[in-house]
Amino acid sequence: MLETEQKPPNNRASRRDFLRGSGLAAATTVLTGRATAAIEEARAQDSEVPILSGEVPLKLNVNGQEKTTVAEPRSTLLDTLRNRLDVTGPKRVCDRASCGACTVILEGETVYSCTTLAVSCQGKAIETIESFDTGPNGVPYAFHQNDGLMCGYCTPGFVTSCKALLDQNKNPTLEEIQRGLDGNICRCGTYGGVFKAALAAAKTMKGA
Ligand code: FES
Ligand code: FES
Repeated sequence: MLETEQKPPNNRASRRDFLRGSGLAAATTVLTGRATAAIEEARAQDSEVPILSGEVPLKLNVNGQEKTTVAEPRSTLLDTLRNRLDVTGPKRVCDRASCGACTVILEGETVYSCTTLAVSCQGKAIETIESFDTGPNGVPYAFHQNDGLMCGYCTPGFVTSCKALLDQNKNPTLEEIQRGLDGNICRCGTYGGVFKAALAAAKTMKGA
């Protein structure tokens, strides 16, 4: 049961009032002029930070196109892409930055979109699997040709990480591919096919 605060009779201070008052008095005594100045400075800085709440307008560059929408400041990039912009390539699986199914490329680097705030991505280039070449020289084709998938839930994330890796390293070794894809998990255990696909994609992209 919650303890309710009882006011003592005759307007005498309650124990809690007493503790509050004495704590404040102690703090006032202990604070030096320098500490007080620091607190004032922090307060002044705080007041300059805009507090965002409710839905705010967002402008995101997705696959080379400027998209405008609204979303709450706490919205993740994954939610915003999937629910507001109908970009459903990145998948929600763990929703806590451990599986990689939601991977997108942000300014050339892979990120987990399930734990990236959409507001923080404004003004940055976001690439999703929707923009990848699906022809014979592209990464998706290599996954298809090399049995790089079973249930397919992890596949968009693997394809995206693979594309980001090959954008930065045209001629990766198997070890470099394994390291480049180590942020992605496949519960079906299709790693053999995934690594073969990445090697094949590197080969065809080099020859393209
Ligand atoms: S859904 Fe984002 S890492 Fe798993
Ligand atoms: S193909 Fe099923 S989780 Fe990877």
